[in-house]
Amino acid sequence: MLDFRYARPDDADPLAVIAAQTFPLACPEELPREAVDAFIRDHLDVASFRRYLSDSTHTVLCGVDPVGAIRAYALLVEGTTMDEQCAPLVLKRPTVGVSKFYLDPELHGSGAAASLLDAVATAASDSGHGSLWLGTNVGNARARKFYLKHGFVERGTRVFTVGGVDNTDVVLEKPL
Ligand SMILES: CC(C)(COP(=O)(O)OP(=O)(O)OC[C@H]1O[C@@H](n2cnc3c(N)ncnc32)[C@H](O)[C@@H]1OP(=O)(O)O)[C@@H](O)C(=O)NCCC(=O)NCCS
Repeated sequence: MLDFRYARPDDADPLAVIAAQTFPLACPEELPREAVDAFIRDHLDVASFRRYLSDSTHTVLCGVDPVGAIRAYALLVEGTTMDEQCAPLVLKRPTVGVSKFYLDPELHGSGAAASLLDAVATAASDSGHGSLWLGTNVGNARARKFYLKHGFVERGTRVFTVGGVDNTDVVLEKPL
């Protein structure tokens, strides 16, 4: 249903579109829309994706449908640099942080998320990494269930700030 490949520089525009569509799905209902919009504007716009795509510590994997549209993406960041407060929680090194992991809602429940995670895990282990780690909102029950089902273990919590509003994330690690 999806083919997975590394994103190219000319993917920045469609990545920003799917990122803006899907980021709100991971946010708690009580988070003000202005905070969500500020995060999208500051971290998920075209300029941000151009930066990620030209930074050797960042990797973007995308899931492309049969007509070539990007329907899913994962943004990976080497080590724990995406949030050093989490470094003590990540046990297996070297590690890769999964900063973003998002699919078009039409694909939720289809198995595509498991395929994207397989692609992420293969990319990480092929490049010599021993684990993946990430944070997801404590109230994101669907994501938490998905990650636990696919080999992640909860290691603790962190504060994750969205548009100036602090949120509590669960931190999970998946040994590879
Ligand atoms: C999180 C995400 C990647 C998971 O992919 P998915 O295709 O939805 O996952 P699956 O359907 O395979 O697994 C989710 C599980 O949660 C269950 N579930 C669905 N809605 C739920 C809910 N509201 N509460 C609790 N569990 C729920 C599903 O039934 C499924 O369990 P099962 O396999 O035992 O039936 C996808 O939903 C997504 O992109 N969400 C929006 C973005 C997001 O939250 N990303 C993670 C940010 S870190």
